[in-house]
Amino acid sequence: MSARRTLAVGLIGYNFMGKAHSNAWRQAPRFFNLPATPRLRTICGRSRAAVKKAAAKLGWENAQTDWRRVIDDSKIDIVDICTPNDTHCEIAIAAAQAGKAILCEKPLARNVDEAEKMVRAVKKARVVNMVCHNYRRIPAIVLAKRMIERGDLGERIFHFRARYAQDWIVDPNFPLVWRLQSNVAGSGALGDIFSHIVDLARYLVGEFKEVCAIMETFVKQRPLEKNRRVKGKVTVDDAVTMIGRFKDGALASLEATRFAPGRKNSITLEINGSGGSLFFDLEEMNRLKFFRRRDPKDRQGFRDILVTEPTHPYIDIWWPSGHTIGYEHTFIHTIADFVKAMTDQMEGRAPSRPKKNRTPPPAAGRLTASLQPTFEDGLQNQRVLDAVSRSADAKRWVKT
Ligand SMILES: NC(=O)c1ccc[n+]([C@@H]2O[C@H](COP(=O)([O-])OP(=O)(O)OC[C@H]3O[C@@H](n4cnc5c(N)ncnc54)[C@H](O)[C@@H]3O)[C@@H](O)[C@H]2O)c1
Repeated sequence: MSARRTLAVGLIGYNFMGKAHSNAWRQAPRFFNLPATPRLRTICGRSRAAVKKAAAKLGWENAQTDWRRVIDDSKIDIVDICTPNDTHCEIAIAAAQAGKAILCEKPLARNVDEAEKMVRAVKKARVVNMVCHNYRRIPAIVLAKRMIERGDLGERIFHFRARYAQDWIVDPNFPLVWRLQSNVAGSGALGDIFSHIVDLARYLVGEFKEVCAIMETFVKQRPLEKNRRVKGKVTVDDAVTMIGRFKDGALASLEATRFAPGRKNSITLEINGSGGSLFFDLEEMNRLKFFRRRDPKDRQGFRDILVTEPTHPYIDIWWPSGHTIGYEHTFIHTIADFVKAMTDQMEGRAPSRPKKNRTPPPAAGRLTASLQPTFEDGLQNQRVLDAVSRSADAKRWVKT
């Protein structure tokens, strides 16, 4: 395959994620030495005027109002799904049947049933597939993975704790947007943000064995978007708290909420092992805190690793030592990994799958397909979300 092969992309949805992904498709080939160059062929949204404007602003050649036309376009190689959750299943299955590679935003689907159908479709069509769990692509998170694999936290992991906290719906007059309607979103904080920390837990520690959870909807009615004087029912959770056990015996404690005033998009996680601990805070995403029990007693303490050196994952393609990166880079890394996975498949290299979460992490800045959260990962994630939901409903422990 020529080093300058082009892969044409069709992106569905032009708002928040549409913007983040458009930027990533544009930037990835400018920084990474990709084996193929993405071409921003078509962006799709429902409003003609708005999607045309988005196409011009975000750098797409064409604007389209029907996603089916994107899938019917034989020149398009990749379909990137950045639409609300109720559309993921139908678009992804149609894209797979048309032989397109698929990048799909999280959560993969609204429920396990949809996720299973999506997995079946991509397996049958043998197309490259990925869920956009972009937080896996933070250099500090990949470094954490590398350190756990290397044994820096010791032989045994005892605890994985994570909290994803936001505050955008604390105001009871905030309207009933799609994220608060179960027929569109599937679930609330659970699928929207808890799914990200479930992915990080599975990536860093391993599979869950059982969970026990509580969920709450604090504000049960909200003004309708189109008529603020009328209220509609909130049909999703506002917050979820879970304890659980991993298959290898480690304990989990996970929480997601949209009711934490002052917490805008806060993810914190701590992992404790027999040899030490790691702590990560998304608001300081270029840093990773590490405590090592082996250090001399009189000098022990959490060290603060600035994850901005060329030796760190992904960093060598960015700026000189010490120059920080941000949120948008997580998507650029995702796209670069996706393109690499795709060209690997085209060149006949087997798509690498993590072996029980114990695949060695990538060398600094090198792309790796083994980092992919595939649709299979999305399904496994959905199974955990489903177990959490069933546990909260039944007020008991549930096996995942
Ligand atoms: N990876 C992350 O961290 C992250 C962050 C935010 C959102 N998301 C996920 O991304 C997806 C989109 O979220 P968002 O925040 O961008 O939503 P949004 O409401 O900001 O944008 C949704 C877009 O989809 C378009 N759309 C809706 N239905 C459509 C249809 N039938 N055909 C074509 N276009 C359609 C809308 O016009 C809009 O452009 C969701 O699945 C969400 O969970 C992921």
